[in-house]
Amino acid sequence: MDLSTAIHELESLEASGLESFRTSSRPEEVEAARIEYLGLKQGKIKAAQERLKLIEPSARKQYGQRFNTVKKALEAAWESAKARLERPEAAISGLDVTRPGTPRPRLGHRHPLTQTADELIDLFGRLGFGVARGPEVEDVFHNFEALNIPLSHPARDPADNFYLSDGALLRSQTSTIQIRVMERQAPPVRIVAIGRVYRPDEVDPTHSFMFHQIEGLMVDRGITMAHLKSTLRLFAQGYLGEDVQIRFRPSFFPFTEPSVEVDMLWHGGDRWVEMGGAGMVDPNVLRAVGYDPDEVTGFAFGLGVERLCMRRHGIDDIRQFTLNDVRFLSQF
Ligand code: PHE
Repeated sequence: MDLSTAIHELESLEASGLESFRTSSRPEEVEAARIEYLGLKQGKIKAAQERLKLIEPSARKQYGQRFNTVKKALEAAWESAKARLERPEAAISGLDVTRPGTPRPRLGHRHPLTQTADELIDLFGRLGFGVARGPEVEDVFHNFEALNIPLSHPARDPADNFYLSDGALLRSQTSTIQIRVMERQAPPVRIVAIGRVYRPDEVDPTHSFMFHQIEGLMVDRGITMAHLKSTLRLFAQGYLGEDVQIRFRPSFFPFTEPSVEVDMLWHGGDRWVEMGGAGMVDPNVLRAVGYDPDEVTGFAFGLGVERLCMRRHGIDDIRQFTLNDVRFLSQF
């Protein structure tokens, strides 16, 4: 018998033997494979060993070496098949714990705005502010009247609001929650409230018809503009970093007097972007909820949550928050 035929036979014996041991899932199958390949009397390895005599003497050494590796490989396969069946997982037939597993499912996470809201609430919490809530569908009393916005005021214009019916609209500002909180409780008050607000604005990189505000309200004896400024400065440094620059500009809101607009220096440092409005709660508002403006004073603010998050993370388009593009979302 010539050497190459003999080696070829050895190799196909090795391949089929290894396969038999690898696929046997019950002890009887392992034993059957052992008898077929490694059996001392009639096993295929035994037959292959006897073939040595048919090979011409000069090629016997080479055949013998290959024979030894095949025999060792089959013995090892037998050992590992036995070991595999001894492990309890193998009781489930066909389970091969040595094979690669199915990939781990990818975990989702909270939306960047939700993360921002949690962080803002946490920051103001450390400054002593509790959390309040209010409805997104509001009545004109809470959205306008109690906030000292008279019937004739342009802020009530149907073109600037989403009215649902005569008496109801999607709230245009979270200042509605100031009123709801003060109606419910006597001073002192120190709360923040985060929620969606709606305005039929033209959509551009910094405007949308729906966005989030964080409203703050603090009412107590002796509250002044100095408390407002230091609170907003502390907050801005806490959320945007010690070196953030903010500025206060005189402004007007019907429900605060005096009023300011607060700007932050945008990332890049080349322009100011409005962060929100603020001011000292107008005595008319305090009176409307039954507080005595001679006894207590207060400040309030309303900041744009998207813009804070954009400034913090270098996001340049507010529309990113609602596109649901995972390439954007997965960065947070
Ligand atoms: N509600 C105002 C707005 O939406 C912001 C504001 C809140 C101003 C509280 C003063 C006090 O623009």
